[in-house]
Amino acid sequence: MPIIWESRLDTGIEVIDAQHRRIVDYINDLEQAKAKHDKHLVTDVIEQLVDYTQSHFGFEEAMLEEAGYKFLKPHKKVHELFIKRVTEFTVRAAKGEEIADELHSMLCKWLLNHIANEDRDYAQAVKDMVAPVPAAAAPALAIEKVPSGGFISGLLGRFFR
Ligand SMILES: [Fe+2]
Repeated sequence: MPIIWESRLDTGIEVIDAQHRRIVDYINDLEQAKAKHDKHLVTDVIEQLVDYTQSHFGFEEAMLEEAGYKFLKPHKKVHELFIKRVTEFTVRAAKGEEIADELHSMLCKWLLNHIANEDRDYAQAVKDMVAPVPAAAAPALAIEKVPSGGFISGLLGRFFR
């Protein structure tokens, strides 16, 4: 069953939500590749997914650093542990083990849980930094109105090509 995006996964930070949706697309691509029993495609998708997720983590961490997010350190640790777990899978795969099913279910559980919980938690800190105006005074000031020359596009250039 493909993952269908739900609003509980939204952080409200447009650029992050777009990246998270892309990760979910990759997870769904992996499911399709598995269903086709196409080993090469499975390997390709896993590689792309890991690469993209790593860029995304880098972007997220730089953004949280900029925002002065107080739980950045533990958040980074969680990312690190995730990369470690995924690396273990790729090592097993390189030895010829069939890991696609196990990896797919781990990704579904882990990433969705991370997005819905830990990632949602930093949303307010980032919003406060981008629009440091009291919500009551400027209720319509949304994060997507940040000028394109702002720090977010600078970060995007650093982590994504
Ligand atoms: Fe995260």
